[in-house]
Amino acid sequence: MKIKYLGHSAFMIISEEGLKILIDPFISGNELSNTPVEELNPDIILVTHGHSDHFGDTLDIAHNSGATVICCHEIATFIQKQGLNSVGMNIGGSISINDLVNITMVFAEHSSGIDFTEEIEEGGVAAGFIITLESGKKIYHAGDTALFSDMKTVIGDIYQPDIALLPIGDKYTMGVEDAAIATSWLGSRIVIPMHYNTFPEIEQDPEVFAQYVDEVSLGTVTMPLQPGESYTEEYEPGDEYESIDE
Ligand code: NI
Ligand code: MN
Repeated sequence: MKIKYLGHSAFMIISEEGLKILIDPFISGNELSNTPVEELNPDIILVTHGHSDHFGDTLDIAHNSGATVICCHEIATFIQKQGLNSVGMNIGGSISINDLVNITMVFAEHSSGIDFTEEIEEGGVAAGFIITLESGKKIYHAGDTALFSDMKTVIGDIYQPDIALLPIGDKYTMGVEDAAIATSWLGSRIVIPMHYNTFPEIEQDPEVFAQYVDEVSLGTVTMPLQPGESYTEEYEPGDEYESIDE
């Protein structure tokens, strides 16, 4: 399993069996992202909400790759109107991809208007995703969100994600302190910060986040990635190792 950071809240996850899952592909509009959009060839695209810094290059990538976009019902309808494949779902629901990987849509405390059209269009609700890989390993992408108590009682206690991708930028989402509390509630082995330093107004030091995590969450490793860097875990269960590579 490989998690490649593409900057902001964008990640390409490659599952143990090679399924390519692209999340929130805000790439061409992000000066910090160093991945050419045309190199991205995902099998599926997950979009957490309708804001342009998450929807990003979704239409172009879906068009070029033929990938199906999975997102909330209202955004799916918007994408289908452009003649592209999209599957709509809603909070609390799961869908299976090829009977191997499972996608669960979970709550996020945020807004979701489609803000890059002439007038803001209805974008349903903001969400996060739990991605359950073939091995059963779970990755939680929180989308944009405030701290909310279901991170403890639903996502932490019931879904028990192994790896959490959490926003730390503040202003529009949790800042470093709330994100550290979220980390302790989730109980994940690994936390990867996102949604920071893309714009001046969300400047944060991931090392400060790591210090807060160390204070409140015993045993969680904070793994900040630079755009283009990946976090990988060994395929075999029980034989896991952690590494960062280019
Ligand atoms: Ni947003
Ligand atoms: Mn955002």
